[in-house]
Amino acid sequence: MFEQMPRGSRRRFLATAAAAAGVAAVGLPRVAIAAPPRLKIGLMLPFSGTYAIHGETVADAIKLRVAELGGKLGGAEVEFVRVDDESSPPKAKDNAAKLIVKEGVDVLIGTIHSGVAEAMVQVAREEGTLTLVPNAGSNRITRALCAPNIFRTSFSNWQANQPGGPMVLDAGHRNVVLMSWNYAAGKEMMEGFRESFTAGGGTVVKEFMPDFPKDEFQPYLTEIAALKPDAVYAFYSGGGALKFIKDYAAAGLQGKIPLYGPGFLTDGVLNAAGPAAEGITTVLHYASTLDNPINKKFRADFEKTSGREVDVFAVQAYDAASLLAQGLAAVEGDIKARKALFAAMEKAEIDSPRGKFRFSRAHNPIQDFYLRRVENGEEKVLGIAAKAVEDPATGCKA
Ligand code: BEZ
Repeated sequence: MFEQMPRGSRRRFLATAAAAAGVAAVGLPRVAIAAPPRLKIGLMLPFSGTYAIHGETVADAIKLRVAELGGKLGGAEVEFVRVDDESSPPKAKDNAAKLIVKEGVDVLIGTIHSGVAEAMVQVAREEGTLTLVPNAGSNRITRALCAPNIFRTSFSNWQANQPGGPMVLDAGHRNVVLMSWNYAAGKEMMEGFRESFTAGGGTVVKEFMPDFPKDEFQPYLTEIAALKPDAVYAFYSGGGALKFIKDYAAAGLQGKIPLYGPGFLTDGVLNAAGPAAEGITTVLHYASTLDNPINKKFRADFEKTSGREVDVFAVQAYDAASLLAQGLAAVEGDIKARKALFAAMEKAEIDSPRGKFRFSRAHNPIQDFYLRRVENGEEKVLGIAAKAVEDPATGCKA
């Protein structure tokens, strides 16, 4: 019996059995009261630091989806346990173990930072815990680290930046400066862009990669003003992106040297950035202004319940909860039916605010990327930059 139970259920079974034994010992009547089934979800997210805004958004969007489903997934009452991962890779294995081993969660959902996610996934693979990645784009997660129990509802860093090269080339720019943070996501995103940009005849004239999460951008912006590239392509996100956008405008570069990037640059900070964000052109698998009924409803509901602007992080998290709901519905809530559960999740079609999508064999979304520009404080959708982009899943053996 124990062999068929996932860790968390086993631990709760023991706790329930022990409690039942205690009742019998004091001589009370043996009344079998079936406790309502519970599903314990561990949220491993940054609730402090430059990505704190994304952590809160992910948690809120998951709760919104669960609330829409009556507070239950697969017939079980959902219980959340949160850990602040601080976007700290050195603490990631301990934080994942805290949720999986100590808390005995049935499902792990995390995280934002690619370096943290890679370490988290390694623990989840060893423990076999069903894990959903609602953001971190580390290529390795759906390549060499892919596994039957690991699903991602966001993107790979390669996938989110491949459409960037043609976007910048089509606008007539040939010489660009790259800017990002020197960590897994920053490096992979710049590499994804460089690949398609240089293949199309573009040249990277300089690359600035301060350490994560440093936000002293001024010296680099001064150098960019002197270099006068055709354009800048940058990946920052959260608090760092807000500071970068404001510093770029304050340095007098806005409107002079066009600013491009993956859409994480503006998502979640658009309102706070105000006029400094005008004109920034990005590619992303979502835009808050997408004209479809699911997005319109989601945007209104999310903004009402969270008090924050809707963004891609909210959508990816909302979709993670939808994926879990579909999987658990297929096995009538039996999380122990792992083979059938994973098979149902693999086959799922998610009716997302970003548009419908399905998963690759490595459990990464196959999805369209939109071309967007900030105009009058909104992400205007200029068109589809690339259709049905699929990460190559190189090295995925699962
Ligand atoms: C990452 O580290 O993978 C990441 C962080 C923020 C936005 C997008 C990607």
